Amino acid sequence: MIIAIDGPAASGKGTLGKRLAKHYGYRHLDTGVIYRAVAKAMLDAGADLSNEMLAVSAALELDPEKFGNPALKTQQVGDAASVVSAIPKVREVLLNFQRQFAADPPGAVLDGRDIGTVICPHADVKIFVVADPRVRARRRTLEARARGEDADEAAVLADILKRDERDQNRPVAPLKPAPDAHLLDNSNLDIEAGVRAAIDIVEAVR
Ligand code: C5P
Repeated sequence: MIIAIDGPAASGKGTLGKRLAKHYGYRHLDTGVIYRAVAKAMLDAGADLSNEMLAVSAALELDPEKFGNPALKTQQVGDAASVVSAIPKVREVLLNFQRQFAADPPGAVLDGRDIGTVICPHADVKIFVVADPRVRARRRTLEARARGEDADEAAVLADILKRDERDQNRPVAPLKPAPDAHLLDNSNLDIEAGVRAAIDIVEAVR
């Protein structure tokens, strides 16, 4: 069983993915973290983010043990991730890892931008999560402040919109719902209600 969750920045897909995986006893992969890890390696090396050769070697050298690093969560790394993730060869290198993760038993929940369209086009269930950009900016700002970062909501909103626009308009694996994806608008849902709505979608197709 594969559950694919896609959606724009800060739409709540990560939380949903984690909760769905827990509910069904499946493994969970936040695929954004993979691109963030590549971006962080590039930033740490002071590399030009559009340097394809360096980005590809950073992708080849990724260590999944480090995907939990809290330093991957920052806005700067998220921004850089949306630049390196537009490099087709970087995506190519990371494809097999994601497909293998999805294929291993007993089942998996993957969240990202292209899970339902490119990584797992045959996923059993596809959910495309959307939320009003102002709601997303509010949530992201509160999360950043909870981590002790000094976040300005208007700047967070601008960043989210810029990243969505970059992710939607890249030629390879752009952010878009698969034709068979179920839309879940969580603008007015709290976490519990969002999780229930997602479980309802999964149960309807299981
Ligand atoms: O979801 P998250 O904000 O962590 O993703 C960071 C960036 O990684 C996104 O803005 C997007 O450019 C890229 N990404 C992607 N494909 C995915 C997941 C994330 O291109 N499946």
